[in-house]
Amino acid sequence: MKVRIEPSGHEFDTAPGETLLEAAVREGFHLPYSCRNGACGTCKGRIVSGTVTHQPYEAKALSEAEKAAGLALLCRALPDGPVVIEAREIGVAKGIIIKTLPCRVTRMEKLAPDVMRLFLKLPQNERLQYMAGQYIDILLKDGRRRGFSIANSPGADEFLELHIRHVPGGLFSGHVFNTMQERALLRFEGPLGTFFLRDDSDKPVILMAAGTGFAPIKAIVEQSMTAGTKRPLYLYWGARTRADLYLHDLALGWAAAHAHIRYTPVLSRPDPGDRWEGRTGYVQEAIGADWPDLSGFEVYGSGPPRMIEAAKSVLASKGLPEDAFFYDAFEYAKDPVTSS
Ligand code: FES
Repeated sequence: MKVRIEPSGHEFDTAPGETLLEAAVREGFHLPYSCRNGACGTCKGRIVSGTVTHQPYEAKALSEAEKAAGLALLCRALPDGPVVIEAREIGVAKGIIIKTLPCRVTRMEKLAPDVMRLFLKLPQNERLQYMAGQYIDILLKDGRRRGFSIANSPGADEFLELHIRHVPGGLFSGHVFNTMQERALLRFEGPLGTFFLRDDSDKPVILMAAGTGFAPIKAIVEQSMTAGTKRPLYLYWGARTRADLYLHDLALGWAAAHAHIRYTPVLSRPDPGDRWEGRTGYVQEAIGADWPDLSGFEVYGSGPPRMIEAAKSVLASKGLPEDAFFYDAFEYAKDPVTSS
């Protein structure tokens, strides 16, 4: 089916059974997306002409009122015939190609009781070009996939670093924590997603991470340090207890060494043994309390959907324009899951 994207005028065809997003990505058009699973709402676009049929999706990702107003989830929408869609394309570095590659687990490091850091080595002569903040899908033997953000910057890509949260009953994370050994072989597809710093703006940036949502944020901060940019970065990392801030010292070190980086850790349920004297509560509320006027900012958030949803209303109430909030919402145990 013929598809045209407005306002760019780019055109492409979908194959039978292919969603609008799948075809656009295959053709190299960068439309915003994260979960590819009808859960996050990132891929919302407007159907200008023609009609689509949606595959199942989560109601919170697209309300009935939005659907009635002509919006669609491009990751779940199958065109019924030729369609014209309105969607914001993202200019990204040329040459980023989504690949399926084998890799070897070269190192495993427990960062917290339930967080494992994996270092993956690609085959000789292979490099993965990606944007800091993107994710890869680990391809499991039974055809399922698990998405994890790449936690290191593209400038240091000898290995790919992942932060895996142990999900009770989780198929892949259970394997990582219970049976996986160094030198294990995996396959993945990537890079995926459009969660990366937009460089067409010099607005100050608030980076909001919850739990292992720190992984893509780490890549973004490291990339900014490597590039030597001085765009202000205000990093907020929310976690339950001190142990869950599994790279706290690293973040403290960034802020100590770089005047344009500030770091605010926020704990929601510190243990008495933590002797925590820092900020408490939810990370999005700490941001709202610190910044009464967010109209001149961009915010990049990575964490569970409930945190992202709560953040949307807090940030909007402080004047953040809707198109200045970029997020990567992920579930830990969904199938297929999104990043982190
Ligand atoms: Fe389409 Fe998440 S709902 S990418």
